[in-house]
Amino acid sequence: ASILVLNGPNLNLLGVREPHIYGQATLADINQKLQQQAQAAGMTLETLQSNAEHILIERIQAALSDDTRFIIINPGAFTHTSVAIRDAFAAAAKPFIEVHISNVHAREAFRRHSYLSDIALGVICGLGVYGYEAALHRAIEYIQETGR
Ligand code: DQA
Repeated sequence: ASILVLNGPNLNLLGVREPHIYGQATLADINQKLQQQAQAAGMTLETLQSNAEHILIERIQAALSDDTRFIIINPGAFTHTSVAIRDAFAAAAKPFIEVHISNVHAREAFRRHSYLSDIALGVICGLGVYGYEAALHRAIEYIQETGR
């Protein structure tokens, strides 16, 4: 079974970008930890970061016909703007968890709305980069429960 971890715009700058909000860990650090966690559970994990909406959409679409069982996504600012990413998830019909490092409800009002949350299996925010780990934990459990 394969788990896909997507990160949207500006998340390539983790560790550098507003560290008081997003912490010190880089995306490479995060992905390396997730790889170990997936490997220990005997699952394959693929990671992709893009600043481009269409790259994320095309990867979500590809999940229609590959072996992706579950998607974890931090959509970054596309969370608050992208009907197109929502539509891609609706088309792919794969369970996904939406992750935000920061507590989007404690920030600017425009971050409170997500185009994805109501069609997500779950949403994690405000737990820092631990949110990815928690999402992967649930993804592994979900795949084990529902069968590969
Ligand atoms: C974010 C929150 C978004 O509002 C923001 O645009 C991001 C990161 C987070 O992880 O907290 O880029 O998704």
